[in-house]
Amino acid sequence: MKKAYDVLIIGGGVNGCSIAYQLAKRGCHTAVVEKSRVGAEASSAAAGMLGAQVEIKENGPFFDFARKSRNMFSELVPELEETSGIPVSYLRNGMLKVAQTDEEASHLLEMLDFQRKEGEQAEWRGPEALSVQEPNIKGEVKGALFIPGDGQVKAKELTQAYARGASLLGADFYEYTPVIGLIQEEGKVKGVSTPAGSFYSSQVVLAGGAWSDLITDHEIQIPPMVPVKGECLAVRPAKPVIKATVHAPDFYLVPKPDGSIIIGATEQKGRMDKQVSAGSVQNLLSKALRLVPGLQSAEWMESWSGVRPQTTDGMPYLGAASLEGLWMATGHYRNGILLSALTGKWIADLIDGTADNQEWIETFSPLRLKEGKGNLVETNH
Ligand code: FAD
Ligand code: GLY
Repeated sequence: MKKAYDVLIIGGGVNGCSIAYQLAKRGCHTAVVEKSRVGAEASSAAAGMLGAQVEIKENGPFFDFARKSRNMFSELVPELEETSGIPVSYLRNGMLKVAQTDEEASHLLEMLDFQRKEGEQAEWRGPEALSVQEPNIKGEVKGALFIPGDGQVKAKELTQAYARGASLLGADFYEYTPVIGLIQEEGKVKGVSTPAGSFYSSQVVLAGGAWSDLITDHEIQIPPMVPVKGECLAVRPAKPVIKATVHAPDFYLVPKPDGSIIIGATEQKGRMDKQVSAGSVQNLLSKALRLVPGLQSAEWMESWSGVRPQTTDGMPYLGAASLEGLWMATGHYRNGILLSALTGKWIADLIDGTADNQEWIETFSPLRLKEGKGNLVETNH
């Protein structure tokens, strides 16, 4: 039987599944084609921070998109949990972005300034106020930006909830089905080919994370991906040591509702392997224990890694690609969990023709680099 759909999505990560959920809610006959299992890659490796204010350092359309996505979770999560039956451990427990040098403190004060001007809540905590709020934070800390509105979820569970929700609303999922090529006719996409046969649709969304540019076709220009491997670990203290998520310039601690703490994460550009090295674990642990010595006696749990999908200018690719009917939804780099809520809705809006934010259309266009609009510089949002 010919497998034909209104929309085909390549990749069952958090973003592919969120898009499937939003499309299925709109009654669109959708399928997700996944080379491995749903959530097999970055989306299950993430620490789950919804860090719109903590991760994005400057004002602009990306900050705007990120905070709108973050703000969707308070309504989306109850709806998704009810539809899917999967709890995603959503918390809006705030984040502390700590400064360990005077220079970092002055950067954080600039961030505080622009975020307040944009109407967001952000408060400064000097060393004393910080030790009242989080008495277990020790070491050389010059102060911290407190962001009450940023929160967290469990990333793996969120991905599964989008997928189950989409499936219960009628979407089909094909796991262990790698897409090996796009089917096209007269400049229009017609479907995808896989070892299990062809799937047909006039709308295809490429949401393959760091692997998106490996679907090669000499007639179609898929903009390049930059893989950035990240390693994480988890420990469990006997009793809670921090209440808020704590974000330092090159590591973070995310206290989860089950009592565990995720400590992340390394950044290794160009790496797509899944090894976790002893040196990375030592490095992350020693920085975390210097900042929160109370973690010394915490029980060791596990370590893991994943590959973040970055782009060459640091902005995600969200929009129409260089073939009619082909869309891209990838390049979320460090913030794919945070951005998943709005990515799902935005791509569904683009496909059904109701997307109306011209600034986002231009900023996130996958064609921007080809047209010379991107910076082609490295960024670290
Ligand atoms: P992926 O999850 O990588 O999914 C892409 C999917 O496409 C994969 O399942 C893959 O198998 C499939 N695929 C690829 N090619 C094909 C093909 N040819 N055919 C079929 N299927 C294909 N983000 C946050 O917002 N908050 C965090 O706290 C956070 N922490 C992180 C910590 C670490 C250590 C890492 C590594 C990342 C973290 N991120 C975080 C980033 C986040 O994980 C990613 O941005 C996000 O998961 C990307 O989701 P995705 O769906 O685009 O890609
Ligand atoms: N956003 C956290 C990370 O990518 O490690």
